[in-house]
Amino acid sequence: MIRIILIGYMGAGKTTIGRQLAMTLGLQFYDLDWYIEMRYHKKVSEIFAEEGEEHFRDLERRMLHEVAEFEDVVISCGGGTPCFFDNMDYMNQQAETIYLKIEPEVLAMHLKMGRTVRPLILGKSEDELLQYIKDSLVVREPYYMKAKHILDVSLMDNFEKIAITINLIRERLGL
Ligand code: S3P
Repeated sequence: MIRIILIGYMGAGKTTIGRQLAMTLGLQFYDLDWYIEMRYHKKVSEIFAEEGEEHFRDLERRMLHEVAEFEDVVISCGGGTPCFFDNMDYMNQQAETIYLKIEPEVLAMHLKMGRTVRPLILGKSEDELLQYIKDSLVVREPYYMKAKHILDVSLMDNFEKIAITINLIRERLGL
């Protein structure tokens, strides 16, 4: 049985890498945000706006406990998932956890280009975004660093680099 969970900041490429990794290994792919949206028939941004972050974190924890029971899966979680409750310890118990580590400048670039509506960074200017990423990484990185595997993927922004990252993960996990 294989279960892999990808963690990392918003814009780290968890979904892109996760989907591709699952396809390569013949596993099912789950994105925790999408799973929440499917179960609750609401966008993550709507849950934040209508019910607040605290409520979202509660749902997120409960949904994590559902998907992290599935077998032969790759799961990408939200950027904040590891940083609330005992989620990170739980994920380490359940899966091979991989932290996709990226420089703040590269994250900012990915987030600027991204089409996903992300409530935590909505309406921020470029400077504000970079500062926000740096500040929140100080708080979040200690959680992320608890992952069983840490992979520096700062350079991952095209298909070749995605393929390289997938190979690195396979090597690391012996798959
Ligand atoms: C969040 C990241 C988002 C989503 C929500 C909160 C965070 O997921 O769960 O907007 O706290 O970093 P992505 O990392 O997939 O953008």
